[in-house]
Amino acid sequence: MKASYVIGNWKLNPATLGDVQALASALTAGTGRCQVGVAPSFVHLSAAKAALSAGIWLGAQDIAHKSTQTGAFTGDVSGAQLADAGAQFVIVGHSERRAYHGESDAVLAQKITHAFASGLSVVFCIGETKDEYQAGKTLDVLAAQLQVVADFASQITADTDGALPKLLIAYEPVWAIGTGLTPTFAEVEAVHRFISETLAAMQVFSPILYGGSVNDTNAETFVKSPLIDGVLVGGASLKADSFARIAAAFA
Ligand code: G3H
Repeated sequence: MKASYVIGNWKLNPATLGDVQALASALTAGTGRCQVGVAPSFVHLSAAKAALSAGIWLGAQDIAHKSTQTGAFTGDVSGAQLADAGAQFVIVGHSERRAYHGESDAVLAQKITHAFASGLSVVFCIGETKDEYQAGKTLDVLAAQLQVVADFASQITADTDGALPKLLIAYEPVWAIGTGLTPTFAEVEAVHRFISETLAAMQVFSPILYGGSVNDTNAETFVKSPLIDGVLVGGASLKADSFARIAAAFA
């Protein structure tokens, strides 16, 4: 049976270490075909690692662009440091990093290089803005964003059962993030089909997740598509019971 993936991106949450410990310890590992992971902020990685049940993957929300274990890069965190803190994956290309930190395709390629060199998997986010969506440019935008991963084709091996894939693509329409809006089921399916075909043409094989206002109700719909391999969840991943219901939908 094809694996599914439910990943929580905690963003700049929760506010306190106590809240992180409470949330992490309330999570349960995925069941059935579902694998679960969470990405707390850097400062909470070790505490989350200590509190998480076995079988829940730990990830970071960013990584330094420079492939070095140590060095003069104020504010940056290396892949070696992330791995040492227990992280197994890192989110790269999230629209909030692109928008608020001006991360270009060139920088994102450096971050993926660094992550892979550090033995970390990558959840690579792509997605169109509302203006691009309304102008009918979604597929053009995604095709351009996906070019970043083409150079890594030779490093992306086929998935092994139960292992964290080297690369996961997360399709996150920017206008759906934190808004309560989502594309229609048919729109998400059509986009996932396009992503899958684009990746196949590059010889890149990766699960494709949907992200953007996923909750425990609409997860029941998204799981119905064989083209949707899981979800990247923001707000609803901060409530252990909602997150568990989303994971259960993908089990
Ligand atoms: O990385 C997660 C996404 O930005 C989705 O966030 O579920 O709060 O809309 P959201």
